Amino acid sequence: MDFFEVVHTQRAIRRFKPDPVSEEALWTMLDAAIRAPSGSNSQPWRWLVVRNRARREVISKAVRERFVTPDFLEQMRQMAEKAASPTERRMLLGAADFFRDVAAAPVLLIPCLYQISSPTDDPRGLLAGSSIYGAVQNLLLAGRALGIGTVLTTFHAGMEDMLRKEFHLPEDAVPTCVVAVGYPDSQRFGPTTRKPVDTVTYWDDWGVARRRV
Ligand SMILES: Cc1cc2nc3c(=O)[nH]c(=O)nc-3n(C[C@H](O)[C@H](O)[C@H](O)COP(=O)(O)O)c2cc1C
Repeated sequence: MDFFEVVHTQRAIRRFKPDPVSEEALWTMLDAAIRAPSGSNSQPWRWLVVRNRARREVISKAVRERFVTPDFLEQMRQMAEKAASPTERRMLLGAADFFRDVAAAPVLLIPCLYQISSPTDDPRGLLAGSSIYGAVQNLLLAGRALGIGTVLTTFHAGMEDMLRKEFHLPEDAVPTCVVAVGYPDSQRFGPTTRKPVDTVTYWDDWGVARRRV
């Protein structure tokens, strides 16, 4: 598959078939992830792959308890009603459905910063993210190239203590997101909806835009 087709069609997949994702495919995705750059090539990561149904259910239950409250569902419904486009509306409703059972994804993958030292030794700031989110994007793109859907989520931020306890994360490991992985069900890959590149790009000085020819 052409690289640019992969980039243009990789999108958030939140509905998954129950079919398992092979270990070989997961190794291929992870091997693409670890090709990414990191500060001083320190590769400050560990990849926690959660496949076991009971282990995924631990996460799913925590998401339900934390997020799938009547208030949350009502807020999502109202946001969907006010959505700027049908695409955004579908996204909001899809996100609410997905949160009802994230364990419907056959794999939940938790990229963790581990013993980060470059470009910062503070694992919780923007600079720390720069040493892992490129790798996460590689993983998403590799999934797309293999026909495997993914969605990057940040719900872990509301349940880090639980993840730490249940999955025995050491102090110097910090989860950075949870990526749900599986074959798409009733949802297609992109093309994605994005603002045109020339509306979000400045040249040589802030505010100086150019039309793409
Ligand atoms: C930092 C970040 C956090 C996200 N958190 C969530 C999330 O918690 N739940 C979810 O369903 N999608 C989440 N997403 C997915 C975004 O909603 C999705 O990438 C965006 O809407 C674009 O979707 P598209 O690629 O299908 O067009 C997150 C994406 C990013 C980059």
